[in-house]
Amino acid sequence: MAYETINVDVSDDVALITLNRPDAMNALNSALMAELATAVAEADASDKVRCIVITGSDKAFAAGADIKEMAEQSFVDMYRANFFEEESNKFLRTRKPIIAAVAGYALGGGCELAMMCDFIIAADTAKFGQPEINLGVIAGIGGTQRLTRYVGKSKSMDMHLTGRFMDAEEALASGLVSRVVPAKKLKDEAMSAANRIAEKSLLASMAVKDAVNRSYETTLAEGINYERRLFQSLFATEDQAEGMASYIEKREPQFRDK
Ligand code: HXC
Repeated sequence: MAYETINVDVSDDVALITLNRPDAMNALNSALMAELATAVAEADASDKVRCIVITGSDKAFAAGADIKEMAEQSFVDMYRANFFEEESNKFLRTRKPIIAAVAGYALGGGCELAMMCDFIIAADTAKFGQPEINLGVIAGIGGTQRLTRYVGKSKSMDMHLTGRFMDAEEALASGLVSRVVPAKKLKDEAMSAANRIAEKSLLASMAVKDAVNRSYETTLAEGINYERRLFQSLFATEDQAEGMASYIEKREPQFRDK
């Protein structure tokens, strides 16, 4: 499918989705959010794709929701449209792993989009922020909830109330991102992480994602119970038998997602 605001490149088992509104720092307008949700759903449904990478440009992952598109909206417009709820939920229904590869600005909705991915790899040029307060609003696609869970209340409040930016080093130290690499190595690092994930059993990868995300939604005891059932259920798969046999036979596993 041809897209106007993103590029999709499927090579080997990985779908690389590049946000592509260079004149607007990849600001998230309605067209981009709709295309992104569709592309991610397509990758999720594909028999070929086993991991998804979302990235932007050297300057910006995404500098937020499109302010020019939002500026004239009324409460009724936003409420009736339920702004970005449908696109976000479609995105969040993805069961395959998604890596955000962030260089430059990830602000407002851009930071929120990165946090909706399963983990974030940052270039040393990355700058994260929730500067909506400067526009007289607040985050609207999960920023107050997800940033708080990533970095804790104090830093989340600081970011949302002051609108300041966090550099890659601070993002790594506070747990917002899992790795920081030199900007010129970002794409290679993200693709090599994705290819590594793509070598695993997709059933196990999906179970990891399901179980870790459950930790956001439930108590520790229920989460551990959920994990235990998922763990046990994987013993119904051929990939469990293959994975354990390959270890014992000292060879590489050949997972078949069965
Ligand atoms: C629309 C944007 C934009 C945005 C940048 N641009 N961010 N357009 N929406 N969020 C456009 C600029 O208008 C400009 O186009 C071009 O991109 C280049 O940006 P500059 O400002 O000239 O670049 P620079 O000086 O390097 O500054 C980069 C920047 C700054 C720090 C990222 O652009 C900035 O502060 N952007 C806004 C960040 C922000 O407030 N994000 C939160 C949005 S609210 P023109 O044509 O004018 O030259 C949000 C709510 C989420 O995200 C909730 C959703 C439900």
